Amino acid sequence: MSSICLQELNGFRLMVGRNFFSFHSLYLLGIHFFTTSLLFLVAVSELVTAAPAPWDGDWWGISHRGSSGQQPQQKSINVQLGPRPYYLIDNMKDSPLKKKLESCSEGPFKTSSRAISHGGAPLMFPEHSRQGYMAAARMGAGTIECDVSFASDRELVCRHSNCDLHYTTNILAHPDLAAKCTQPFNPYDPKIGTPASAKFWTSDITLVEFKSLCAEMEATTFNALNTSQSTSWMGRMGETPDWRTNMYAYECAEVVSLKDQIKLVESYNLNFTAEAKTPPQVPMPFQGNYTQQDFAQKNLRHVQ
Ligand SMILES: *[C@@H]1O[C@H](CO)[C@@H](O)[C@H](O)[C@H]1NC(C)=O
Ligand SMILES: *[C@@H]1O[C@H](CO)[C@@H](O)[C@H](O)[C@H]1NC(C)=O
Ligand SMILES: *[C@@H]1O[C@H](CO)[C@@H](O)[C@H](O)[C@H]1NC(C)=O
Repeated sequence: MSSICLQELNGFRLMVGRNFFSFHSLYLLGIHFFTTSLLFLVAVSELVTAAPAPWDGDWWGISHRGSSGQQPQQKSINVQLGPRPYYLIDNMKDSPLKKKLESCSEGPFKTSSRAISHGGAPLMFPEHSRQGYMAAARMGAGTIECDVSFASDRELVCRHSNCDLHYTTNILAHPDLAAKCTQPFNPYDPKIGTPASAKFWTSDITLVEFKSLCAEMEATTFNALNTSQSTSWMGRMGETPDWRTNMYAYECAEVVSLKDQIKLVESYNLNFTAEAKTPPQVPMPFQGNYTQQDFAQKNLRHVQ
């Protein structure tokens, strides 16, 4: 099953109304905390009695097609939560919800259709990367989302914003591509405190150029003096905030097209959701004749 939200829906709005959403501290955490925290909590709350079926896929749980090319049978992935939900619940004030969550602390856990991954697992892995989506599947997400943007050749790619390549990928470390930036890199000025700036649209480059990039942890501290400070910021114009981690960001994380994303999600037998960003920050019609409607139609063709 596939689903599409053509409207701008963020993770909050998708989840409003769920009982676990009354977990007050999550309100304060914001969207990007949301995915990793919530996946965990939902999985915690989805207590099941059956043990997971034995798995014959690879390390990350991707099922393999048989030689006949048949879809593999539905398999359940051995869902891993990690310590974070325990940490969050431990820090909750006493409440019936806290008791309920504690009561299922020992699992077993399974994939939940109520856990929607917003862009992978962006608290821990570069957002909208193959590695982030795989982590979301491993953490029990039943639906994995791609925010859809488009490249200059109108191919559809997964990025949270049409205009975030300069702080979510290493594009500034590619001088040939950096030269195509809508607004070039301007370093941080420590004397007057002006943050580093640039404006890089997905539509500044082709799909092939996009695929040559590495996804990185979203930077929110725009203190880059240049674009070659490869240890602390890896070709973005800022640093990873301290409420995220670079622990899983030192290898190149793969950026993906919507097509790749759907293929990956289907290899887990999970649901995907494509969110066409609207209105795009890129002025439409793009190149004179690519309208928002054309973009929406193209999204629909991919997900059908
Ligand atoms: C995918 O969506 C279908 C239809 O809504 C639902 O029945 C199924 O449980 C979902 N699968 C997962 C893994 O969440
Ligand atoms: C970039 O900035 C760092 C830190 O200030 C400095 O060590 C390095 O020499 C700079 N590189 C270039 C190419 O200017
Ligand atoms: C859109 O405009 C481009 C030139 O910018 C042209 O090559 C293309 O054929 C046009 N497409 C349509 C559907 O009109």
